[in-house]
Amino acid sequence: MQRILIDTDPGVDDALAILLAMLSPELHIEAITTVCGNVSVTQGTENLLRILGVLGLEEFPLIAQGEAQPLVKHLVTAAHVHGEDGLGNVSQLRNADGRPLYPSANTSISSTSGVDLILETVTRYPDELTLVALGPLTNIAKAIRKDAAKMQRLQRIILMGGAVEEYGNVTTTAEFNIFVDPHAAHEVFHFDVPIHLVPLDATHQIILTGERLHAETDKRPNRITQFLKDATQACMEFYRQHVGFWGFHIHDALPIGMLTHPDYFESVPAHVQVETEGILTSGMTVADLRQERRHPNPNAQVCIKVASEAFLDHFFERLQ
Ligand code: RIB
Ligand code: CA
Repeated sequence: MQRILIDTDPGVDDALAILLAMLSPELHIEAITTVCGNVSVTQGTENLLRILGVLGLEEFPLIAQGEAQPLVKHLVTAAHVHGEDGLGNVSQLRNADGRPLYPSANTSISSTSGVDLILETVTRYPDELTLVALGPLTNIAKAIRKDAAKMQRLQRIILMGGAVEEYGNVTTTAEFNIFVDPHAAHEVFHFDVPIHLVPLDATHQIILTGERLHAETDKRPNRITQFLKDATQACMEFYRQHVGFWGFHIHDALPIGMLTHPDYFESVPAHVQVETEGILTSGMTVADLRQERRHPNPNAQVCIKVASEAFLDHFFERLQ
């Protein structure tokens, strides 16, 4: 059993990752912290409660709301991809009697800040907590600034972000999570804790088509599969119009899969740095994968290959 803390900006793919993690018996989710990113952090926290409400749980991880703004830049969100509420607009859906189709989970948000809940959780489980970062790295950078010694006790950080030999998805060179807060990412990559990076190079290897999603959800109609259908409509429409296929990349589910099925993933060591000042390249992750004269001190394991079909099969086995 692995103890994890998920830091997230829910977001549709974050929702799928959170459901997958909650339905993975190999994992114990000690806490979930929200951060600004796909949507405002207040909206993200509301979305997290709605996601957890889908599962009909009796017990919940500790939940705390994190940072509302990146370290330096102004917040850039992605509502155009994830829907106005950041969750495919499922917050608008109603039952016949007018009640919300997806009500919030019956649990409370901690009065502790996201940064302090991260520090409290790593202190509670020194050397055995994995931090899974699915959004911009603002909370993690602020926790390091606040108490680096405590954060040194993290077993590792697994983060979805960056693009190494792949183009970016916000600019030509930058992936969203790093683009939103490059200064936080710079500080995280310079912090001495094992880092596993899951960049677009890996997440773009998996395309969840609308056809596959509907075939799988129609196989076993239930509350979770209905939520999968409802929550993903908006972003699949975005992909159809702007990316060229009806479906989407389940970016954030991959770090969860890396925890439970590491054999589906292949990584290489590399020295990774983040551009924070470039006009054209702000948010670019610069990973040194040169054959010769490679940087001698790798600071991250970079995922470059995924067993896509095996992972997708596993994803649907778990979410049904
Ligand atoms: O670039 C993809 C990442 O940005 C994912 O984490 C998605 O949720 C968005 O936050
Ligand atoms: Ca995310």
